[in-house]
Amino acid sequence: MVSYKSLGLVNSVELFKKAMAGKYAIPAYNFNNMEQLQAIIQACVETESPVILQVSKGAREYANQTLLRYMAQGAVEYAKEISGGKGIPIVLHLDHGPDFETCKSCIDLGFSSVMIDGSHLPYEENIKETKRVVEYAHQHGVTVEGELGVLAGVEDDVKAETHTYTRPEEVEDFVKRTGVDSLAIAIGTSHGAYKFKPGDNPRIRLDILAEIEKRIPGFPIVLHGSSSVPQDQVAIINANGGQLKDAIGIGEDQLREAAKSAVCKINIDSDGRLAMTAAIRKVFVEKPAEFDPRKYLGPARSSLKELYKRKNIEVLGSAGHAND
Ligand code: G3H
Ligand code: 13P
Ligand code: ZN
Repeated sequence: MVSYKSLGLVNSVELFKKAMAGKYAIPAYNFNNMEQLQAIIQACVETESPVILQVSKGAREYANQTLLRYMAQGAVEYAKEISGGKGIPIVLHLDHGPDFETCKSCIDLGFSSVMIDGSHLPYEENIKETKRVVEYAHQHGVTVEGELGVLAGVEDDVKAETHTYTRPEEVEDFVKRTGVDSLAIAIGTSHGAYKFKPGDNPRIRLDILAEIEKRIPGFPIVLHGSSSVPQDQVAIINANGGQLKDAIGIGEDQLREAAKSAVCKINIDSDGRLAMTAAIRKVFVEKPAEFDPRKYLGPARSSLKELYKRKNIEVLGSAGHAND
């Protein structure tokens, strides 16, 4: 059993309190490898933003959860090194934890926050599984995110064909009975790069969010599936041999609006994938003789860093809040 505190990580309690008061959201960026981690940390140090490093089930399978935990531990030191010693608050979070056992193994390994995603379960079972995770996590000072409602979209293991919006009348009961620290809700965001079809009205249901806020005032809300699918990156991918057709995301203006409310954590992964893919495709087309991975992963890392810096400043509003 390793305590996240001994690794220099923090849980999300204080960060969410400050985000709520300051009307911004903490960025939650997924990582699977060194280049993504470096880009996230560089972007957040340079914009002086706190950050939530997310490890998904797919990431655990791809990179190994022990290795990812050591990388996050290294990121604490790396952030200090590149910020002249100050560092930034870093949360290591399990994204879409499928069950109690997975959450427990991450907590025991030194994660400071976990999500138990019981959104696909019947309501009472979701409560039971979530409560079980909360009871264990809170013994170790680890924060827990639960979920109510089902997001549409397809992303590896995170699948749902249609939205089931969160029912505002359930949130108070869920939060009270489970003891969760934050709640992910479904209001029209979805995973992946194909969130809307051409001709759709790509709006999220800020009215449902407002209704939820009324029922649980001051309680931290989380938005998954919050990539905006930047069209300039999609164009670069397609101009360099890619085939992304009708990839449409959430407008950044709507996310900025949501970040001013009780939404304290915004999850972004797909936009980063697009930025890296665009940069790599460009190198492959423009320099076909290149075969040193650093020559294409380097530009991918730079592009990811610039994207996340811009998100922190313009969308989440977290820039400048590392030392609130
Ligand atoms: O919510 C899903 C995240 O984008 C992680 O996806 O399981 O493919 O790593 P993944
Ligand atoms: P996107 O696919 O919109 O980036 O969502 C990521 C996410 O919700 C991770 O949990
Ligand atoms: Zn998600």
